[in-house]
Amino acid sequence: MIIVLIGYMGSGKSTLGKELATVLNYRFLDLDDYISEKEQASIPIIFKKKGEIYFRKKETEYLTEVITSENLVLALGGGTPCYGNNMNLISEAKLVKSFYLKLSIPLLAKRLFPERQSRPLISHISTEQELLEYIGKHLFERTPYYIEADITVNTDHKSKQEILEA
Ligand code: S3P
Repeated sequence: MIIVLIGYMGSGKSTLGKELATVLNYRFLDLDDYISEKEQASIPIIFKKKGEIYFRKKETEYLTEVITSENLVLALGGGTPCYGNNMNLISEAKLVKSFYLKLSIPLLAKRLFPERQSRPLISHISTEQELLEYIGKHLFERTPYYIEADITVNTDHKSKQEILEA
């Protein structure tokens, strides 16, 4: 069985994924970490040196590789569901259950603003208001992909325990 966690940057995919993996006694894998390890470079460096298109190609390549594992909790990158044929790869894989971790735009902005320098897509943003607007537009484009997940979990104002129970 593979549990796939989907959601925007900052939605808690890795934090919750690690806890879920412990509870289920599954292995945890963060697709971004896997890409970094394989490419021997951080995500911001890959974006900077090779560009986003290269990153997206690698993202699909490594997703194809890991989606055949067993007993795994897999946290995707925020953009993974929205490129290539990735949502089909996920829905066609055997024994996969996908969860969209949905968080409101203001909470995402609050969480992401202090960490924006380490995230290539939002590192150019200088105010929280600008980030709010960016996330609003970006989520509008991405939501149709995210809601293809088997289950949507609304995580606003919920503790980790409550989310895991949901
Ligand atoms: C991205 C999200 C990041 C990472 C890359 C692109 C996106 O992952 O894959 O910076 O397109 O939203 P996280 O959602 O884990 O931050």
